[in-house]
Amino acid sequence: MDAPTTTRSADGQDSSAGDGNEPGIPVEASADAVLVRRTLAEIAPVADRVTSYFYALLFIRNPELREMFPVAMDTQRDRLLKALLTAAEHLDDTPVLTAYLENLGRGHRKYGTHSTHYPAVGEALIGALARYATTSWDAEAEAAWVRTYTTISQIMIDAAAEDERSAPAWWQAEVVSHDLRTPDIAVVTLRPDQPYPFLAGQYTTLETPWWPRIWRHYSFASAPRPDGLLSLHVKAVPAGWVSNALVHRARPGDVLRLGPPAGSMTVDHAADTGLLCVGGGTGIAPIKALVEDVAEHGDRRPVDVFYGARSDHDLYDIDTMLRLQKTFPWLSVHPVTEEQGRLPEAVCRYGSWSERDAYLSGPLGMVRRGVDALRGAGVPVERIRHDFLTELAPADPDQPRSGACMARTPSMLPSR
Ligand SMILES: Cc1cc2nc3c(=O)[nH]c(=O)nc-3n(C[C@H](O)[C@H](O)[C@H](O)COP(=O)(O)OP(=O)(O)OC[C@H]3O[C@@H](n4cnc5c(N)ncnc54)[C@H](O)[C@@H]3O)c2cc1C
Ligand code: HEM
Repeated sequence: MDAPTTTRSADGQDSSAGDGNEPGIPVEASADAVLVRRTLAEIAPVADRVTSYFYALLFIRNPELREMFPVAMDTQRDRLLKALLTAAEHLDDTPVLTAYLENLGRGHRKYGTHSTHYPAVGEALIGALARYATTSWDAEAEAAWVRTYTTISQIMIDAAAEDERSAPAWWQAEVVSHDLRTPDIAVVTLRPDQPYPFLAGQYTTLETPWWPRIWRHYSFASAPRPDGLLSLHVKAVPAGWVSNALVHRARPGDVLRLGPPAGSMTVDHAADTGLLCVGGGTGIAPIKALVEDVAEHGDRRPVDVFYGARSDHDLYDIDTMLRLQKTFPWLSVHPVTEEQGRLPEAVCRYGSWSERDAYLSGPLGMVRRGVDALRGAGVPVERIRHDFLTELAPADPDQPRSGACMARTPSMLPSR
């Protein structure tokens, strides 16, 4: 049976499509959503070709837009189109989708995107869909896509305009210290040129001077500090452009660009639920920030941190975590190396966590296993927070989803 979905027409009015608006009876997807999904199903097998054609149309018709994008349109090039398609597919899932699109709209300010650019992207989208969805494309489908795109882009445009009133499009941040903790992990401390407001547990997007227009995500390793400095833990991944530049090339005095903060792996200080935090590799960075945040708020809620890495040597921040454990009686730190088994399974061996709010941060595989293990151990899914949304959200829109998961669902994030 279909899971209930809220019906919302493209003009934003709540409505009931079909007979499904009686209490207890699942509400059908909106008429536009049905048409949009039909197109998506048809293009799914040729998504790569649709992406190439979309960008070809966009840049041939609007050559001035090309320089906003990275020189090498590599594997990440499908993020814009994927997000558009995901958003169109999930249009009925407001208000969670709205929050995502608002965030995306604000984040687009750093690319130099203006409201006047949106029609060009919309036309390229419609052009690419019309070419590849040959069976299902007709005037009705086109009208549904135009309404859908208009709704999506208006949310992004409005959020960017609102953000313009109080925040810069990006921040410049000078490297003030660079500490190589292992041969491939550096702790980089930055001084932003203007106050940078964020919450513990969030991440930023970052561009280095060596790879213009290539943006990557990095979590803040501390709660906001009185001196306004920001710290990141970066691991150089094999052949990774930005991470290698940050670990092996960046030095004090270098200036990076930061986009706005994002991410909902934050602590609700109105609650007194205990926390279960699982950090793998540099995933310990936002977990450390969460611990500092709890300490600063004077909360006496129990916090258990499981910190996993391949070997003892790779637990590069264990001294800091053990120092925090000594200071705060409510904090327990459990180091886990591969010898002791995989991190998520180790967490579940320790006991029942069903009363805790869970935070997972680290490589995608670890987070995925962690979500499965915790759900299996009885932790309600809406209490499990992480920053890999699309990757972990069910692809089938009719599958049940949690608020927590959907809260980050459509983001097309690179893996950690
Ligand atoms: C929400 C979020 C927060 C993040 N926070 C952090 C953080 O605090 N610290 C941090 O170091 N990273 C973090 N990451 C990962 C980071 O954004 C980059 O993906 C990572 O630094 C690689 O970027 P790159 O440009 O160096 O590599 P790319 O040029 O993007 O990738 C080069 C090659 O390396 C592969 N690759 C990518 N990641 C890995 C990996 N982890 N292991 C092995 N191969 C890989 C790619 O598939 C590709 O083949 C975070 C990611 C997300 C989504
Ligand atoms: C509804 C419309 C749009 C959606 C859903 C969308 C979505 C996305 C997404 C998900 C990304 C990946 C990085 C990120 O999360 O910021 C992205 C990147 C980008 N978008 Fe958009 N976008 C839209 C419109 C536009 C417009 C109108 C422009 C301006 C021409 C634009 C320019 C860019 C650029 C330059 C990038 C970076 C490319 C890269 O890193 O490869 N986008 N977009």
